[in-house]
Amino acid sequence: MEALIIRNLSKNFNIKGREVKALNNVNLSIKEGSFTSIVGKSGCGKTTLLKIICGLEQQTEGEINFGQTIRELDRAKRVGIVFQEPRLMPWLTVEQNMAFPLTKNRDKEEVYYIVHKYLDMLGLESFKDAYPAQISGGMAQRVALGRTLCYDPEVILMDEPLGALDAFNRRKLQNEFINIFRENNKTIIFVTHDVEEAIYLGQKVVVLDKGSILSEIPVSLGYYRDAASLEFIRLREQIMDQLLST
Ligand SMILES: Nc1ncnc2c1ncn2[C@@H]1O[C@H](COP(=O)(O)OP(=O)(O)OP(=O)(O)O)[C@@H](O)[C@H]1O
Ligand SMILES: [Mg+2]
Repeated sequence: MEALIIRNLSKNFNIKGREVKALNNVNLSIKEGSFTSIVGKSGCGKTTLLKIICGLEQQTEGEINFGQTIRELDRAKRVGIVFQEPRLMPWLTVEQNMAFPLTKNRDKEEVYYIVHKYLDMLGLESFKDAYPAQISGGMAQRVALGRTLCYDPEVILMDEPLGALDAFNRRKLQNEFINIFRENNKTIIFVTHDVEEAIYLGQKVVVLDKGSILSEIPVSLGYYRDAASLEFIRLREQIMDQLLST
């Protein structure tokens, strides 16, 4: 079953009278419980696409249909997004930021259990009482990630969430995403400009260029993937060639 179907989606922005075509006739189906990577160069429309999917931006043309499980009214509840930058609330601690979307209609112990599960997973337990100004950029990004995971939406949109992390934490969290995906039956759409990361994570890699989809490439490798395997390298070169030839 499809979690969402995007049809003929276009988005134009107007920058001081100049028209910028951020998305141009995008068509894409996302299966429920699938992990899709979207890869493309800076400015190709990745963030714009995610913002339209979660309703933060309105398309110029086209439509997005959510599958039966997600009605339009539920979109805010069912679709969560992790932005490129952390967007934490500076007056709340790490723990409070992560608990923020949870506090309504839940008892204290349950909130504590959920928040601490992700504090632990993301290696943030010892910084739970720190304020955003007191932690590093990569840690702040992990808090933002934790906040979305606590919220537990069915569809998780991630906009280059690991861009600010060092290579070790990056690989660790990539593997955590795979675990979260496999254990919780989530639909994940993961945006990155890193071709290797896209292949390491996605069951399908969507190559986006200048607002249009260049190709959709299925990745048949099982998790966890070996970036040095022949098939991995073949996929990487195929995608690189596509992006270099435009
Ligand atoms: N609010 C806005 N107003 C005007 N133009 C915008 C706006 N948001 C995005 N754009 C334009 O749309 C195009 C796509 O931007 P977008 O942020 O989607 O790119 P991106 O693929 O996410 O890039 P990056 O990898 O650098 O984050 C760019 O040309 C950008 O200038
Ligand atoms: Mg972006």
